[in-house]
Amino acid sequence: MEPFIILSEFYNSKTDTLILGAEQNLAQFALTKSESSFLKAQVEKKKDQIIIQRYTTKLIFANLKDSKIKNLQEAARVAGSKAVAQMSDNCSELRIIDNLDETLALHAAEGAVLASYKYLKFYKEPGKKASKLKTISLVSKTISVDEVIEQNYLNEAVFFARDIAQSPYAELNALQFAELVSETGKKTGFKVENLTKKQIEALHMGGLLGVNQGSETPPVFSIMTWKHEKAVNANPLIFIGKGVMFDTGGVYNKPYPHMNDMKLDKSGAAAVSGLMMALAKNKIPVYAIALVAATNNAIDAKSYVPGDVLRMHNGLFVEVIHTDAEGRLTLGDALSYADKFKPELVMDIATLTGAAAAAIGTEGCVVMGTAPDEQFNLLEKSGHEVYERTVRFPFWDEYDKSLDSNIADLKNIGGSDAGAIIAGKFLARFTTSPWIHIDIAGPAILKATEAYRTVSGNGFGTRLLYRFVKNYVAGKK
Ligand code: BES
Ligand code: ZN
Ligand code: ZN
Repeated sequence: MEPFIILSEFYNSKTDTLILGAEQNLAQFALTKSESSFLKAQVEKKKDQIIIQRYTTKLIFANLKDSKIKNLQEAARVAGSKAVAQMSDNCSELRIIDNLDETLALHAAEGAVLASYKYLKFYKEPGKKASKLKTISLVSKTISVDEVIEQNYLNEAVFFARDIAQSPYAELNALQFAELVSETGKKTGFKVENLTKKQIEALHMGGLLGVNQGSETPPVFSIMTWKHEKAVNANPLIFIGKGVMFDTGGVYNKPYPHMNDMKLDKSGAAAVSGLMMALAKNKIPVYAIALVAATNNAIDAKSYVPGDVLRMHNGLFVEVIHTDAEGRLTLGDALSYADKFKPELVMDIATLTGAAAAAIGTEGCVVMGTAPDEQFNLLEKSGHEVYERTVRFPFWDEYDKSLDSNIADLKNIGGSDAGAIIAGKFLARFTTSPWIHIDIAGPAILKATEAYRTVSGNGFGTRLLYRFVKNYVAGKK
């Protein structure tokens, strides 16, 4: 269970306390003379975290004024995550007092909750490894109960996305994923339909089937629907998550160590699953569909091989050149399937290319596509708000030609340059809807924890897409 945020009234010396701002409203803490002068001296040295030990608990001051992070809300999240690392052994509650603008406390709480995440399935005594943090109490007159509830549900959804991403392949193949989202949909209120291999064959999803050929587990095509009765949109927003449950590279096997993180090739699926949970739990007035074409990309005598030609859902034929460029094959079918809903907008989110990660690292994701500029701008704004930032790449027609094939409509890889864009150009051939492609190969996979973004699979995308939908809904009202 993720820690829970609640509202409370005053400073309480029995719990560790995070104080945002190190110079205002200090009377409530009744600092001794020496504590006061220590605090002042540390502020003068521009220390961003200042700790005063009080018997068994701590006052943790976050001197946000001197934070290196310019975005104050993000500085508060990071301060929240740093406070969790300092908590006393006997404390399961962190109280947050916001002496700056009263709304930052909720962001600090978000950072604290997200920082406390740990994938605990494989510890003999998980209780010993779990975060001590159980409750975060906010002292604020500005933050409403509804905002707190919404944040709690969003946190739960991010934990859900992280659990999906973090699950080893042995725990979560395509069938197990389908069952998991189906159960979760029942519990939280979104509808789930899982198409079987037979149905996938009848739909001629040759991309998904081709990638699946080497697998012992059949593919599943999951359709998750959240449709509020007062939805602001008549035609759905569609979110497609790359659901490659494990990517060995196929017969063009990934060499060590490049395969090692490839359980995380389902991070797009994790992000959209988390999104559906957050939308349903918070009853957002929107019509949204998430699609996941789930399979692993395995090696076997039956695996697809270079030279094979696949007939995709939209009828285009694809010559397979590289078996490791599998994500675009599964996504191509999902994109083409999405068209039948006449969506207002389609977004796909995928750990698609090493090239995207090489270009911008883990600090943000790469976006491109055919949607109107307003949609890209809304996504960019949402990205800044939740600090899952986007960078738009060019999408010029000239890139298209590198996908020309000698024997089919197109091939599945281009030349060696502009890999992230060419992957996007491949996807573009499978949609006629306004569309944004989000490549999260960089930020979805962390080698080490970065503040509240926990190591390895961190659920990147759920917060971004949730905020996008919220902003989209607000713009329609
Ligand atoms: N899942 C990988 C992309 C990836 C790489 C994600 C590293 C996260 C970290 C994808 O299926 C892939 O293998 N892409 C190839 C494409 C190439 C063969 C054109 C790549 O990026 O090398
Ligand atoms: Zn691959
Ligand atoms: Zn992949």
